[in-house]
Amino acid sequence: MKNINPTHTAAWKKLSEHFEEVENLKMKDLFADDENRSSKFSIEWDDFFCDLSKNRITEETRDLLLELAEECQLEDAIASYFNGETINRTEGRAVLHTALRASADAKVEVGGENVISEVQQVKKKVKGFSERVIDGSKKGYTGKAFTDVVNIGIGGSDLGPAMVTESLEFYKNHLKVHFISNVDGDHVHETLKGLNPETTLFVIVSKTFTTQETLTNATTARNWFRKSAPQDAVSDHFVAVSSNVQKVEEFGIDIDNIFPMWDWVGGRFSLWSAVGLSISLAVGYPNFEALLEGARKMDDHFKNTDFKENIPVQLALLSIWYNNFYKAESEAVIPYTQYLHRLPAYLQQAIMESNGKSVDRNGDKVYYQTGTLIWGEPGTNSQHAFFQLIHQGTKLIPADFIGFKESLFKDADHHNKLMANYFAQTEALLMGKTEAEVRKELGAKSLSQDEVDMLVPFKVFEGNKPTNSLLVKKLTPENLGKIIAMYEHKIFVQGVIWNIYSYDQMGVELGKQLATQILAEIETNSVKNHDSSTKNLLKHFLS
Ligand code: F6P
Repeated sequence: MKNINPTHTAAWKKLSEHFEEVENLKMKDLFADDENRSSKFSIEWDDFFCDLSKNRITEETRDLLLELAEECQLEDAIASYFNGETINRTEGRAVLHTALRASADAKVEVGGENVISEVQQVKKKVKGFSERVIDGSKKGYTGKAFTDVVNIGIGGSDLGPAMVTESLEFYKNHLKVHFISNVDGDHVHETLKGLNPETTLFVIVSKTFTTQETLTNATTARNWFRKSAPQDAVSDHFVAVSSNVQKVEEFGIDIDNIFPMWDWVGGRFSLWSAVGLSISLAVGYPNFEALLEGARKMDDHFKNTDFKENIPVQLALLSIWYNNFYKAESEAVIPYTQYLHRLPAYLQQAIMESNGKSVDRNGDKVYYQTGTLIWGEPGTNSQHAFFQLIHQGTKLIPADFIGFKESLFKDADHHNKLMANYFAQTEALLMGKTEAEVRKELGAKSLSQDEVDMLVPFKVFEGNKPTNSLLVKKLTPENLGKIIAMYEHKIFVQGVIWNIYSYDQMGVELGKQLATQILAEIETNSVKNHDSSTKNLLKHFLS
């Protein structure tokens, strides 16, 4: 990939000039002036209808953003990404989560070797194992079928499987799946207290198998298990997903119980690998395969579609427009389904661990904004929580609204109410409410003129708040796969244009190193040299 500073491109210069002209345009005027605006800025693809028209853009803005993508050589970068080139240069790795969902006859080479057959072998192992646990033919040490699965992992080894399992709750089988991630002992003990060791299966997920939280929790779980089970029963109840076979064996898990992963799969993009074992156990392998199939379809859309009609590319460019020109700091993701309540948390790692970088691919400090802050909660709950700030606060917060045409339980009364809110909110954010409208509304009430005058400023809504509306046919495993892959590719495009390395995460290391030192000080009750604040806090903790 070429290292191009986006701010030095001709397109950036043109975008800056264009921004001066359009900054204060009102979207509602743009709609009034062009009755075809919605269709001009909408993309229909597969089960998706993606309406991008409620954005502070004109056709010229879109053209200039496309010029930026072209000048930053996005097309070549996409080819390098899918072809397995070492685009994660700082860690010397390819970035190939897309190979995990490629078709069985695809060819994706890493170091001259086609990795697809290995991927297929591991998928076969996940399938066979999931089937045996689900149908009860794989039994625990007393001959009973498993009832509970505990996934122990953190970051990408937790958030992906946890988010997908929650999102696909409707498709779940009888197995109860639990997730332990935090090194907080209360998390592991609270989960274990309700479980029966005879019928509990532990899935330890750690790419490196060196992560403190995961190893501590796995050790606690194994100790709990061994209190009632014979020593050799561990092999029936503990399996691991990791690329570090040696460390897994040192922990005491049989080699047959290891589901391998590869260094070309980043932790936060790993749910498509054997890291998805808990997903496959929770919803069955065919649903896991459908999730992968959805992601593969989105990969094909991203690879093969003209950038103007390309959903991840358009979402990425809009995000750059707000982040770098409007100086918006955050973006909200609002799914209008309770099932996707963990999606924003999942995206926080995917987006912020990837694009939270301040050094470019040349190793130089960047003087433009990169990664956005991401947050959100499902609608309608979020409407009763933070929407006030989006509507009337001082910050510009572009928001993705994700809604579904059909609900899963087919309760039309609820679904119509839910979706009425989905449409109403984006319309309200677009249109706002003028002073004249407020006066008319208040005029219909029995208020004095003074009372009306006093209330008017508080009831005016500026509007002009941008939103992307993604309307999907139904929440199925396949459509969920498409949504996740859509965000993965949005992250990639933004990283390419911002000229940063999106696939390392060096910023999380310093805290980990310091925690190791401080743990030794806590355990020996000897506080060493720290800043006075940390020293005082430690003394207080130890007293
Ligand atoms: O937080 C840093 C990180 O390396 C994440 O990128 C990763 O998902 C997580 O820790 C867990 O790592 P592992 O799977 O190696 O335990």
